[in-house]
Amino acid sequence: MSHADDPAGTRRDFLYYATAGAGVVATGAAVWPLVNQMNPSADVLALSSIFVDISGVEVGTQLTVKWRGKPVFIRRRSQKEIDAGRAVDISTLIDKNAENKNKPEADASDQNRTLDEAGEWLVMMGVCTHLGCVPMGNESGDFGGWFCPCHGSHYDTAGRIRKGPAPRNLDIPLVKFTDETKTTILLG
Ligand code: FES
Repeated sequence: MSHADDPAGTRRDFLYYATAGAGVVATGAAVWPLVNQMNPSADVLALSSIFVDISGVEVGTQLTVKWRGKPVFIRRRSQKEIDAGRAVDISTLIDKNAENKNKPEADASDQNRTLDEAGEWLVMMGVCTHLGCVPMGNESGDFGGWFCPCHGSHYDTAGRIRKGPAPRNLDIPLVKFTDETKTTILLG
């Protein structure tokens, strides 16, 4: 397992490689090839669950891994991001469901979107719920979260859709910490 180091502590997206050879996701805006979503290769399909080492992810940065042929964003949020996410009145949200496979019926409160109670870890599919582009991170868009440049969808610091054509919050896959050290997560 290897990962890219953080040059000079810049707040940019990071590329890591997950266990078992999960692949590559570039930083910034990119249109994820639809064919890749529809027809993942056999070796990708075989990776139904993967472990991801998150020990090197610094506060205020994002790790992106490829899982089942799609990007997954693993964000370690700053206190500012947490506070912004928790300050939102969920009655004002476009999508009031958490869209969290770990909490199927939960509402879209910030607490129901994050992996840990403190709200530091946010793990989401990096796939815009409009037409499947890969949103830009690094506190992008009007709400300081993610911005999809394809048609202008703005997601907040909890990955909830706030403006633009996307109908749903960014999906949260099945995910958990593997132990109490919280240095590795299991996707799937
Ligand atoms: S695919 Fe993201 S806004 Fe259309």
